[in-house]
Amino acid sequence: KTPFPIFSQEEVYKHRTPADGIWVTYKGGVYDITEFVAMHPGGSKILLAAGGALEPFWAMYAVHSQEHVLEILSEYKVGELSPEDQKQQSASSSDPYSTDPPRHPALRVNSQKPFNGEPPSEILSENYITPTAFFFKRNHLPVPKVDPATYRLEIEGLPNGPVSLSLEDLKSRFPKHTVTATLQCAGNRRSEMNKVKQVKGLNWGIAAISNATWSGVLLRDVLLDAGYKSGGTAKHVQFEGLDKDVTGTTYGASIPLGKAVSEEGDVLLAYEMNGEDLPADHGFPLRVVVPGTVGARNVKWLGKIILSEEESSSHWQQNDYKGFSPSTDWDTVDFKSAPAIQELPVQSAITQPAEGAVVDRSMEEVTVKGYAWSGGGREVVRVDVSLDGGRTWQVAKLRGGEEDEPPPPPGRAWAWKLWELTAPLPEDAQELEIVCKAVDSSYNVQPDSMAPIWNLRGVLSNAWHRVRVTVNE
Ligand code: HEM
Ligand code: MTE
Repeated sequence: KTPFPIFSQEEVYKHRTPADGIWVTYKGGVYDITEFVAMHPGGSKILLAAGGALEPFWAMYAVHSQEHVLEILSEYKVGELSPEDQKQQSASSSDPYSTDPPRHPALRVNSQKPFNGEPPSEILSENYITPTAFFFKRNHLPVPKVDPATYRLEIEGLPNGPVSLSLEDLKSRFPKHTVTATLQCAGNRRSEMNKVKQVKGLNWGIAAISNATWSGVLLRDVLLDAGYKSGGTAKHVQFEGLDKDVTGTTYGASIPLGKAVSEEGDVLLAYEMNGEDLPADHGFPLRVVVPGTVGARNVKWLGKIILSEEESSSHWQQNDYKGFSPSTDWDTVDFKSAPAIQELPVQSAITQPAEGAVVDRSMEEVTVKGYAWSGGGREVVRVDVSLDGGRTWQVAKLRGGEEDEPPPPPGRAWAWKLWELTAPLPEDAQELEIVCKAVDSSYNVQPDSMAPIWNLRGVLSNAWHRVRVTVNE
């Protein structure tokens, strides 16, 4: 076996274009990846590493810490990096996730870097307000460290020019409002869609949804104070996070202007969650809470607000979080052809019993619990539960907030309902197929199965939820 030639970092750095060849280094190896660039599943981002080390980029995109990625890389090996340059590199590389906060060990982790985790689903129905530590966490990037003393919120696109506010300005100059709102990720229940046919995305179970009380100032109040007047040309309100990728691009999203400035929109710039300062994972020191709207628009670590004629140009507004026909695949998808998801469709799921649980015949009864929610402030008005795969149905008992709390005004039901049904065990049944489906105030219902709503990104997964349990004689 002939040993690989030794290259200096300086030599590797000369290979950064297709004409000169594209070289990278990884753990002391030198690789000529010119041929691979066009085949890279992550697109032209790969060129950011041209002429240098992969480690800092792969630390950001941990999708690469898989054996099959290393196998691909190994095909392109052309040499070894000189020992002096190897030493230099290991001294300078660092993990952008090293300052991420600690998380509750009970969270089911879908990805560690960036951190994405959901609680065990029984926890959801045990608490109307999800305890903060168990609230699902969905990050696209490392959690940014923000100093609340020097933090500024910038607002652009107003007739009187830009405005900059400190955290203290927000807390002292505007009335404090509290809204109980459920956040749901567009990818909640993706794993069930994945069983129909493979989709691309984190394999969420049924718990990428949680409910909290959020306190802060109304976006409407802040915009009016900053000089917003109706009748302008702006149609959208864009939000930029302070979390950045390797190119310095921030997380971003936008919502329609009407939702932002409506007296009934209840859009908050929240600095508290469940009565405490926002935790790092949920957007400290300030996040947008857009009640009734998909999680992705609820921008955390909010740095900037822009009123504009156009939607956010962010990847997550333009090329992600959109729905398509089951017939659309990655070769034919045209992201421009579909609107960005804003309000989510009606949803419900069974949190107890768990799939595969055993119910004891001597108990004579079975108790089924779950959650139900709909987007756009549409209230859940009914949940139907079946113990026989959908042939016969019983109506579950719904539970909103505290007993003495008034019901939400029409069109502003931002929080979920928990539901429960206790029913006699059907005689002779050895197995139960428990099914739930919710109805919202517009009489929208959930579709009965996933296949007809399957889409390549696995979003909007809201078919009847089904759980199979066995009855122990
Ligand atoms: C995804 C290989 C360099 C960014 C992937 C995947 C492979 C791959 C096989 C798909 C992984 C999966 O889903 O199982 C490689 C190889 C590289 C390289 C062999 C170097 C020779 C880079 C660099 C960056 C990058 C330098 C960023 C600066 C990404 C991103 C994805 C990805 C963002 C995810 C795409 C998506 O989920 O849509 N890469 N990669 N890659 N890569 Fe790379
Ligand atoms: N905001 C920023 N700045 N960065 C992000 O990665 N993720 C979004 C949204 N806001 C995200 C963000 C997505 S996709 C969701 S579902 C929600 O935050 C999740 O909020 P949570 O982590 O507080 O549950």
